[in-house]
Amino acid sequence: MRKSAPRPGIWRGSKTVAPAPVDDPHERENFVTTVETAEKPAITPVELGGTRGGPDVPTLRSDNWWIQPLVSAVILTAFVVYSTWAAFVNKNYFVGGAMHRDLISPFYSPCLAASCVPGSHPSTVISWWTISPALLILIVPLGFRLTCYYYRRTYYRSFWLSPPNCGVADAHGSYSGETRFPLVLQNIHRWFFYLGLILNVILTIDAIEAFREPGLGIGVSVGTLVLCVNAALLWLYSISCHSCRHLCGGQLKSFSDHPIRYKFWKLLSPLNANHMKFAWASLVFVALADLYVRLVASGTITDYKLF
Ligand code: FES
Repeated sequence: MRKSAPRPGIWRGSKTVAPAPVDDPHERENFVTTVETAEKPAITPVELGGTRGGPDVPTLRSDNWWIQPLVSAVILTAFVVYSTWAAFVNKNYFVGGAMHRDLISPFYSPCLAASCVPGSHPSTVISWWTISPALLILIVPLGFRLTCYYYRRTYYRSFWLSPPNCGVADAHGSYSGETRFPLVLQNIHRWFFYLGLILNVILTIDAIEAFREPGLGIGVSVGTLVLCVNAALLWLYSISCHSCRHLCGGQLKSFSDHPIRYKFWKLLSPLNANHMKFAWASLVFVALADLYVRLVASGTITDYKLF
């Protein structure tokens, strides 16, 4: 039997793989030539010593890495602009008995100021608050989202460019993390999580009350569904929070000694893996819920009764 002549290996990624035996010398020559031409790795020169020890180029990435931070910046800016306007406008946030509905915007609930429109507030109100009642309560969802681990990553990338994306140079020459004022305040996220849970309970009660149709009885309208979906997304956002997962399964040496906490931890972990999706979905939907109530309250659209 003829012995195969030794042939060069094929470079594939980071290791060298011996090619399959080819007996015909002519075919072997073509094969080797083709492989060497097609698989020869391109060598990218990398010089260390750039910003914070990285390569002396902004990035080695050749994909469209800038799309993600740009889209995030656009959505976050649009939300901030809309929610600021909605919080200060101080009208059209409640659809009451005159329209046979009980719908309140999530931006204005609970409506705690004495100036809240009749029917929209609980019996105990704050009499000395004279500006928009939304400003009384928006501090909680704002603080919760601002200190959220996921949003932190997002706005550090999109607005601070620190760094704009993975494998892209930081726009700043130095980095102190979250160890100094004001970023050290990000540690209060857990407390906003607790306050956010209270707000979720209130918005869930609002969603249940949206089934009331004063003068008509109980029913379901598009507005009812909007407030129910809004409450559900806010719960998903909250219980998928990293603080919530840590609360259930953190600081334990042994899960077997804490079977109930382990069950909760196992239940929440898949939700936690999708926290980013819940963060975006709940952010966009809460603005849409406010917009829907606003359009119905102003008479721009009708809240259709489904059944
Ligand atoms: S980590 Fe995002 S809400 Fe807690």
